[in-house]
Amino acid sequence: MKLNAMLLALGAALSINAYAQAPIVIKFSHVVATDTPKGQAAERFKQLAEKATNGRVKVEVYPNSQLYKDKEELEALQLGAVQMLAPSLAKFGPLGVKEFEAFDLPYIFPSKTALYNVTEGEIGKGLLKKLEPKGITGLAFWDNGFKVMSANKPLHSVADFKGQKMRIQSSKVLDAQMRALGANPQVLAFSEVYQALQTGVVDGTENPPSNMYTQKMHEVQKHVTVSNHGYLGYAVIVNKKFWDGLPADIRAALDKAMKDATTFEKAIAQRDNDMALDAIKKAGKTEVYTPSVKEQAEWRKALLPVQKDMEGRIGKDLISAINKEAAK
Ligand code: LMR
Repeated sequence: MKLNAMLLALGAALSINAYAQAPIVIKFSHVVATDTPKGQAAERFKQLAEKATNGRVKVEVYPNSQLYKDKEELEALQLGAVQMLAPSLAKFGPLGVKEFEAFDLPYIFPSKTALYNVTEGEIGKGLLKKLEPKGITGLAFWDNGFKVMSANKPLHSVADFKGQKMRIQSSKVLDAQMRALGANPQVLAFSEVYQALQTGVVDGTENPPSNMYTQKMHEVQKHVTVSNHGYLGYAVIVNKKFWDGLPADIRAALDKAMKDATTFEKAIAQRDNDMALDAIKKAGKTEVYTPSVKEQAEWRKALLPVQKDMEGRIGKDLISAINKEAAK
């Protein structure tokens, strides 16, 4: 081979090689702060994924609705503008997968064990499968925990909710829950909640303490009730076409990284929420109240019928299957 031809061939080989080594980029968008259970687990996934693939995969995490708000991020995932999200299970209704709203049903999980029986068993697998026709692959369930209620007035008995404008996520079950308490629900994106509370667009809201504290909601809410009336968790999801198109060895490494990030996430969720509730108390701006046994019974009486009322939307069989798992 002449020298010129050899140089050309070498150049071509080098450029093919350079192309093959350009990292695969995963944009992972989410709406909460980095120091929440979800935020930390996203960072952990990034570290594990980049290490396991020797840098062939680069994960870019965009927290705090930096790239997209709740509704937009699901559209961006379907369009392939981002590759990975972890929306709360209360946000899949607008996508047409209403069954995920089962997680929002009041008192559906008596404990974390009951929750894991569902998310890690056949029910969880079946729910993730429902995303596939939407061009989405479900990889894992991440936990946040049980919710507290907040407002600028004490929320002790059910009557205290009367007429309160309460911010909710875009779930019809949460809408029904607030109405069952006599409140007026209003759907708002997570990124808009602080300001809406501050300016009085809404009076109150619900979330696990980790979300309240990291968004400083306690600074604009005088009262928090530790009601644990409902659950908040996530599905980690990817664009299906992107995922299926990955080299098999990369996909396997990412699967393992996700598994390990999930174990990490579940281990920190409760602790983080306990710490956040303590921090809210210490900040001294919010009165934190635990309902009496009598008040708890009253909340249950008002809220349990929501499970039955939502059978038409979520499916009677799914609700009873979850209740059965939860009772094990
Ligand atoms: C909310 O919108 O209240 C939460 O779902 C935010 C989140 O992702 O935890």
